[in-house]
Amino acid sequence: MTSGATGRRPPGPRGADIVRALLNFKRRRVLAFEDLARTYGEVSSFHCLGFKLYVVTGAEPVRHVMVTNADNYVKSSGGRRAQRFFGQSLQTTPGAAAKPRRQMLATMLQRDRVRPFADVAVSATRAMLDGWTAGEVRVSDAVMDLILDIGIQMHFGIGPREDSRRIRDPFTDALRRLDGFLQLPPPFPTRGNRAYARAMAAYDAEILPYIAKRRAEGGPRHDLLSSMLETRQSDGQVLTDRQICHELTSTLAASFFTTAAAFIQVLRLVAQHPQVEAQLAAELEGALQGRPPGFADLDRLPFTAQIVKETLRLCPPAGAMVRVAVDDDRIGEWHVPGGARVIISQWVMQHKPEWFPDPEAFKPERWTPGFERELPTFAYFPFGWGARNCIGQPLAMLQLQLMLATVAQCVRIEPVRPTPAAFTIDDILESGGLVLRVHPRTA
Ligand code: HEM
Repeated sequence: MTSGATGRRPPGPRGADIVRALLNFKRRRVLAFEDLARTYGEVSSFHCLGFKLYVVTGAEPVRHVMVTNADNYVKSSGGRRAQRFFGQSLQTTPGAAAKPRRQMLATMLQRDRVRPFADVAVSATRAMLDGWTAGEVRVSDAVMDLILDIGIQMHFGIGPREDSRRIRDPFTDALRRLDGFLQLPPPFPTRGNRAYARAMAAYDAEILPYIAKRRAEGGPRHDLLSSMLETRQSDGQVLTDRQICHELTSTLAASFFTTAAAFIQVLRLVAQHPQVEAQLAAELEGALQGRPPGFADLDRLPFTAQIVKETLRLCPPAGAMVRVAVDDDRIGEWHVPGGARVIISQWVMQHKPEWFPDPEAFKPERWTPGFERELPTFAYFPFGWGARNCIGQPLAMLQLQLMLATVAQCVRIEPVRPTPAAFTIDDILESGGLVLRVHPRTA
């Protein structure tokens, strides 16, 4: 791989084929990247609505963007819609300017610091299960509620039985309206923009007084708000209430849909594979003997962790990442102009048969320590990669492993209707959500 401004434009859809490619994206979403790779090769490009889109799917091209010339490929700031909700937070700050804030947040989310959240995840999951009766359960709705309950408790210390609805309703409302694709930017008083502004105002009206009240009360508590109130930035200053609001809102948003999508897929895949479910139940019985799981059990539940890893491979919640090229570059023989949007897809890379034999099959047993050691970084990166990878990974893995252990310990689950192993979360939600048949386990 060489850098420089020369090279040819990569192949890709042109003319009427661009419309076909866009319709394919609408229909197949992340799977459309596989279609592009199959038709045009490891690097393809097309220009659309003023955007220059480059889709990079081979090991060497991906390594070039993520490692070799990573400084030339920055995260996008998310645009003005995202900045209204998240301000100048880590998520919306591209390049080196994000470093101090990232360090601060990553420290708060280290594995030993998130230890108290293990019990939060287990007790919230048990509360969810208390609401399930034998028979068919709309599991996707229950999981969305669960992850939001846990997220609000971890971020703000507001428990599911306290008044978290005040926060969750305007939060989910604003999040739903955030996607501004094909919408005019916020200053334009369109209907969508006015509704978005109203949702954010309602959210601010709840969250800002709550942060001020917590600052006035003082004293440490086991939540991220408490850590943020105590922390000092590199210049010695504390964060303002508004900065804390933006940062917590943005991590809550980053964690909510990803973790919920992952857990919905975990439950779907376990339900569809009775042998996996039986092996999981045996591991839980042996390690826990009927008591609820906790942080100390994580290393004693290796098969539970393997199920999570294989799910994140087969159906990664973040199916693709976007980078913006700062300057002109060359990837192999191909020219990439400055300003181009470069798309790297976990979905495509994690389904390659050269690293994952029988890639469309759900095989938790493939995740042996030896297999993991041999796996190249660019073959598996559900939590991203490099300088802007996911700082919530330890927390997400902890949550997923403990939530799965809690569910599988209390109930046996079966599919109501079959779905392909590699089925996207959008497919699940658009086909009416995930419904499973639930059988309580007798003690
Ligand atoms: C299964 C669950 C999760 C998945 C699959 C996931 C995936 C990802 C990915 C792929 C990225 C990189 C995006 C990019 O490079 O463009 C990312 C970034 C990020 N994630 Fe996660 N995430 C998960 C859970 C969480 C949790 C629980 C938190 C925090 C509580 C979190 C906080 C963040 C933040 C703050 C960033 C931005 C980092 C930066 O810009 O430097 N995520 N996540």
